[in-house]
Amino acid sequence: MTQQTATSDIQDLIVQAFNFRHATKVFDADRKIDDSEFETILQSARLSPSSFGMEPWHLLIVQNPAKRELFRDFAWGANGAFNGSAGQLGTASHFAILLAHTGATMTHHSDYLQKHMKDVKQLPDDVIGFINGAYQKFQQQDFHIEGDRQITDWSARQAYIPLANMMTTAALMGIDSCPIEGFEMDKTSAVLAEHFDIDPAIYQPAVMLAFGYRADAPAHPKTRRALDQMVTWA
Ligand SMILES: Cc1cc2nc3c(=O)[nH]c(=O)nc-3n(C[C@H](O)[C@H](O)[C@H](O)COP(=O)(O)O)c2cc1C
Repeated sequence: MTQQTATSDIQDLIVQAFNFRHATKVFDADRKIDDSEFETILQSARLSPSSFGMEPWHLLIVQNPAKRELFRDFAWGANGAFNGSAGQLGTASHFAILLAHTGATMTHHSDYLQKHMKDVKQLPDDVIGFINGAYQKFQQQDFHIEGDRQITDWSARQAYIPLANMMTTAALMGIDSCPIEGFEMDKTSAVLAEHFDIDPAIYQPAVMLAFGYRADAPAHPKTRRALDQMVTWA
């Protein structure tokens, strides 16, 4: 954080960025995001927090136009069918699919987690032993996250943290985005397995995220509940 920037200026920038961001339906297909700006967007995902620091997500960035088309038939939230456009799939500068880790990797004591704690987090064995116990209790007793579906859903909840951070980071740089849940999960998973070598036993799609520059102004002004309808102070 720069010391010179007044807090009120930062507050203004943040609110402006949140007002600027809207779910962009069609991007200007001729405008590409600069590599260094996209790298900053990715860093905001990389530096996102996660429960126990386990980072239970992976980002697949689909840039090959033919490969994006593999999703068109069943990605109804990104194919532009509702407005007769090429949709986010056909116009985005960058098109990401956020993948959630399944139970195969995220169940307590898994080999994957041991390696993550040792190699990425560089924790000593005694700390890893402690975290293993705490994580097992968390999954089994505290949050009742057991079984593949529940663990995958928990991972997907974590994946929405980088999702949000990337959209805000993009907006701060004047880059548009659209989060996309409008797709058939099973068919997406099958395409990921067949054409992207993504093992469905290890990763399931959580959400898609398109980036680029808006082709048109937003169709509607932003509407939200008032703060006092959203917040309860106790
Ligand atoms: C998790 C999630 C999934 C969404 N899925 C889609 C989608 O499939 N297609 C789409 O055009 N917009 C999608 N949206 C955008 C929302 O409709 C949009 O954020 C909401 O209506 C508020 O509008 P605004 O983002 O423009 O302020 C999604 C938003 C979120 C957060």
